[in-house]
This record gives sequence, structure tokens and C-alpha cells, in this order.
Amino acid sequence: MAANWQPDSWKEHKALHIPEYGDADALAEAERTLGSYPPLVFAGEARNLKADLAEVAAGKAFLLQGGDCAESFAEFHPNNIRDTFRVILQMAVVLTYASKLPVVKVGRMAGQFAKPRSSPVENVDGRELPSYRGDIINGIEFDAELREPDPQRMVRAYSQAAATLNLLRAFSTGGYANLQQVHGWTHDFMGRSPWAKKYAEMADRISEALDFMEACGINPDTVPQLKATQFYTSHEALLLPYEQAMTRQDSLTGDWYDTSAHFLWIGDRTRFDGSAHVEYMRGIGNPIGMKCGPSLEPDALIRMLDMLNPAREPGRITLITRYGHDKIEAGLPKLVRAVKAEGHPVIWSCDPMHGNVIKAASGYKTRPFERILSEVRGFFAVHRAEGTTAGGIHVEMTGQNVTECTGGAVAITDEALGDRYHTHCDPRLNAAQSLELAFTLAEMLNSEMATRGREAA
Ligand code: PEP
Ligand code: CO
Repeated sequence: MAANWQPDSWKEHKALHIPEYGDADALAEAERTLGSYPPLVFAGEARNLKADLAEVAAGKAFLLQGGDCAESFAEFHPNNIRDTFRVILQMAVVLTYASKLPVVKVGRMAGQFAKPRSSPVENVDGRELPSYRGDIINGIEFDAELREPDPQRMVRAYSQAAATLNLLRAFSTGGYANLQQVHGWTHDFMGRSPWAKKYAEMADRISEALDFMEACGINPDTVPQLKATQFYTSHEALLLPYEQAMTRQDSLTGDWYDTSAHFLWIGDRTRFDGSAHVEYMRGIGNPIGMKCGPSLEPDALIRMLDMLNPAREPGRITLITRYGHDKIEAGLPKLVRAVKAEGHPVIWSCDPMHGNVIKAASGYKTRPFERILSEVRGFFAVHRAEGTTAGGIHVEMTGQNVTECTGGAVAITDEALGDRYHTHCDPRLNAAQSLELAFTLAEMLNSEMATRGREAA
């Protein structure tokens, strides 16, 4: 257990991106309510994920983390949950086939509500209001009353997270995640997509592998594991009053866990020396992530790793790098070398989204698909050169057919962005772009595994 730590010891540290609630009594009331509610996840599940991630750290599994930039109350619908879950499973099947490694699946789902913003205020037509900070804090409408932080929103977010997680658990174990069915969807989908010809061969090979297994009597009836999957949840632990209220002491081990999700991460804007977020995260037993952007210096990273993982437990820390397509190859090696020299066991995961945001001529915030792929390529190249493992990918995506990122084989143009631009925060890959990314990544993983195989021989 972390020394000199309490669930509220973060309050003695510098907290950025947390709202000032005007009504202290209303905040205390919401915290009391959340504190009396059941945990969303059980500590044992968080430990299982940590063990799975330890395999990723050892190069024996691959991490796939994805979902909305920001979940919202408005988009809360069973079809949205189902479709995002389905695309993540489809991506996982493709990646498993290519890498021949188990894929650890973690959704940015069931709790990903709070957002750090570049400016605390927003100006529209000469009028200034507090920025929107995610539905767990305030409303997206440009309205003075709705932009006030409202603690009751935390209680609503909890109940939405609980219902979302309940459906995810049902899908994971109730038969929806059947391996043959999941690949069947990919196959149908590819039949309808003009771009899919390029990847038809790989998809056919997966079908053949499944047919071969079936012929050998290996099917979801004989091997029930093929019917179910392990699916974990995650979000940025930004809104510390909420996370603190969900922090519970595990009755089996006496350790503290944040029971709002299996995996929590610290954002790029809240990971600094003396940060309240780092202080909070050091005391919870969950596996945790930290976003690493261009401003992070190696010595600061090592100081934070020493704080967050003094026991150097493998699977505890995932470093999610988000440099930008043109900065990764110059910026990442110094972090990789420092971590390697210190012997800290970490998972390196690539977020190719947050360093690649541009403003399109149409005025929409977007991310060109080619830059996303280019950052992933750079990520693999750096780890290959440094002799470290490219362990995972972290993406903002949805199962819906939105038009938020330009490009991809579906060729979303700048002009088309307005057609179905629904995100409450950053632009997401749509279902087709997510699958295209998975196939491209599969090619990279395939050659990576072949290289590793040659080196081991
Ligand atoms: C995010 O993941 O949505 C986010 C805000 O990322 P970062 O902290 O890397 O900017
Ligand atoms: Co985002």
C-alpha cells in the first residue's frame, strides 16, 4: 500500500482541470450518494487486467484500447454501446490473427465523461461562458445555467456507466462475442466496402482458420471460450471528486482500488510533478495509464514512474504516447531509452489521435487518417530501433458511421465532415476507418512478429 496516502490526499496537491463547484453542500451530497453506491468493478477484476497487461509488457499479448473521446448523456443508447463493442471485437480478431497473440480489450467506455479543455472559457458572438467539460460536469449547450458545474451530473454519469457496463458484461459473456459471429460481421461488412479488396486476403485466411477449427470440432459449443470474451473498461481519471467517491478498500487485500473502472489513466495535461492526479493515482491498486506528449522530459517521466510504481510491478503502468505524426520519431526515443535504462517495466501504447488534430477549412476539428497511420508506423519504427516492444494502441473510435476524421479508404472529405459530425469532443474514427486501421496495424504486427521470430531463431 502507498505510504502517506489517503483517497483525499490529492487535495493537498495542485489540481488542474477540476471545476470549482459553487455549492459545496450539493457537492458533498453527491459525493455521499456515490460513496454509498455499489462499486462498478471488483478489485479482483482490476488485478486480472493487471496480470493480462503484464503479459503485454512481456511481449506476449497486445493491448487494444478504444472508444469515444467523450461519452455523453445524449448518445446513451444500446445501439451505440453495441456497435462500438462490436467494432472493438472485430479489430481484436484481426489483430489476434495477425500477431498470433492474445489481444487485451479495454473500452474507453462506461465512464469516459470528463474532459480537460485548452481554455476555461468559450466565446461565441462576443459572449463568454465557461467551457464545456464533459457531461459529468456541465452541459454542452451554450447556455449560462447549463455551463455551471452541477454535482448531480456525477450521479447521473454513475448510473449511465453502470447500465453501459451491465450491457457490456452481458454481450461479453452471453453469446454475442462468439468468435465466428464476430468474424462473420467483418466478412459481410467487407463485402460491402469498396476499400476492403485490399484486405480480402487476410479476411479470407481468418475465415479459413475458423473453418479448419470447426472441421476439427473446435467451435463455440465444444469450446465455450469461443463464445465469450474478456472486456475491460477505462477512462481518464480527471474528475477526482468522482474518482475519490468510487475509491474503496478491497476486503480481500486491504488495498485501495478505484472501482469506477478497471483501468484509469492520467491525461497529458495533468501529469506533472506535484500534480493532484499523480498523487491520487499512486494510491490505487488498479492498472493505470499515463499519456506522454512532446513536453514530457525523461527525468520527469522517471520521477513519476518511481512514484506510481515503486515496486516495479509489470502490468501496473501503460505509457500512452501521443506525439503527432511528425514528432514521434524525434521525440519518443529519449523516453524509451530512459525507461529502459531505469529498468521500469512498462507497456508502450500508441495514441495516434491526440497529436494529430487539425482545423479543417470547413471549421471542423478533424484528424487526417493518413497522419494517424503515419504515427502508428513511426511508433513501430521507434520500438524496433530501440529494441523495445510496441505493446498496444489507444484510439478514439465509434461503431457509428460518423464523418469526423478525414480520409481512409472510405475517403471522407473535408466538405463531408458536416454530414454526421456527432462527437462531444474530439473527432473519432468511424466503423470502417477503425477496421481499416486494424488491418493496416495487422500488417505491421505481422512483420514485427516475423522479425521477432527470426531474431529468436
Ligand atoms: C483524451 O484521451 O481524450 C485526451 C484528452 O488525451 P490527452 O490527455 O492525451 O490530451
Ligand atoms: Co480525446
